Amino acid sequence: MNPLNHVAIIMDGNGRWGLNNKNSRIAGHKAGLYVVEDIINQTLNLKIKYLTLFAFSTENWRRPKKEINYLFSLLEKFLNKNLVKFHKKNIKLKILGRKNFSKKLNNLLLKAEKTTFKNDELQVNLALNYGSKYEIINAIKKIKNSNKKITIENFSQNLLTKNIPDPDLLIRTGNTKRLSNFLLWQLAYAEIFFEKKLWPDFNEKDYLKILNKFRKIKRNFGNI
Ligand code: FPP
Repeated sequence: MNPLNHVAIIMDGNGRWGLNNKNSRIAGHKAGLYVVEDIINQTLNLKIKYLTLFAFSTENWRRPKKEINYLFSLLEKFLNKNLVKFHKKNIKLKILGRKNFSKKLNNLLLKAEKTTFKNDELQVNLALNYGSKYEIINAIKKIKNSNKKITIENFSQNLLTKNIPDPDLLIRTGNTKRLSNFLLWQLAYAEIFFEKKLWPDFNEKDYLKILNKFRKIKRNFGNI
């Protein structure tokens, strides 16, 4: 059975779910948030050490302002509701991406990171304002300025995921097969599962099914 240390998820399909079920895209985001909470708790119970969730990409700024603002208000609610609970459960929260939101949200994100910094049962990375190409360019600039040699290890240490092991498994819901500028370097050897269900319909049973399939894959890493 494969060890499973790190699961990454592209939570796609909120907008379509909202339109199909409530005639409103933002209703899909609201429904998707419940699934986020369930999957975090299940990951904790399964003793997986890292969970990375793609919550907002650098490209998502192209969306209507109303939807963006709604997403950020959901994020605020999520943190206000869960920060103490997560801390009690020994969950560490880390933001991957530049915090250039409202002062209130930036401070809340900083507080979440600071409060949970020493926790070590599960690390939840929220990719927010995250774009992998930007992250890679930035790593190159940092290495260039430091005059150090470019090596795989040194490069990895200059990414936002510094000290985080690469994901073993990527799940993308929403019946779309693409990476959308998410962890392009880090996913080099991940097993990828594309799930037809839209994110708000994804549940604990679906998650377990994928994890069980993952466990049985023969992972070669280039070997035979
Ligand atoms: C992609 O679905 C989803 C997002 C861009 C946002 C993800 C947000 C959540 C799951 C809820 C909030 C989460 C947190 C952590 C506060 P989409 O809108 O692109 O769906 P579509 O492809 O159907 O349009």
